[in-house]
Amino acid sequence: MHVLAILGSLRRGSYNRMTYNAVRELLPPGVTIEEADIFDIPPYNDDVRVEQGYPPAARRLREQIATADAVLFISPEYNYSVPGFLKNAIDWASRAPDQPFKGKPVGIMGASTGLVGTVRMQLALRQTLLFLEALPVGRPEVLITFAEQKFDAGGRLADERTRKVVGAGLDALVAWARRLQGEAPPGAPPG
Ligand code: FNR
Repeated sequence: MHVLAILGSLRRGSYNRMTYNAVRELLPPGVTIEEADIFDIPPYNDDVRVEQGYPPAARRLREQIATADAVLFISPEYNYSVPGFLKNAIDWASRAPDQPFKGKPVGIMGASTGLVGTVRMQLALRQTLLFLEALPVGRPEVLITFAEQKFDAGGRLADERTRKVVGAGLDALVAWARRLQGEAPPGAPPG
């Protein structure tokens, strides 16, 4: 089971990157994860796509999504929505042929310094994923509120309750992906 993580913050000291680090610590057995490098994807331009094809960075992202068993977004909320460069990367990934989000299991996590922990970004992202026929996990919602209180000075996700929610979100994504692949989850009764 291979998961592609797509992060929505470029910031050094990003709480969302710290969340990704916690995800890597909490990975269930048999699951690998890698981070997509979306930071050099150019602004979307359909003339470029039609006349020259996908730029290398966008092509790489499309291939990584296509070959992953699941995608995990970990992103802040910017102005009630998805950060612009992350949406731009999704836009590049979203075009024909072989739009790679179709049928893909997707998890969503987000950390913000605010009161509602990226809930509006997550709703906006779900709308986009709906159109792309991706299959996002419903619950648990992984919303990290007041992020500055949840991580220690070393950047570790120190808040135990939040660690549990992140772990549960990860487990739910893996179980969802396995179910969609027709595999029984570990410990499931036969049949
Ligand atoms: C924010 N922030 C923010 N927070 C929030 O809860 N709702 C929002 O709409 C916004 N909007 C917003 C826009 C922009 C441009 C910035 C830079 C920030 C605050 C945000 O939660 C905070 O900066 C987080 O620390 C960003 O995540 P990283 O970079 O720590 O991962």
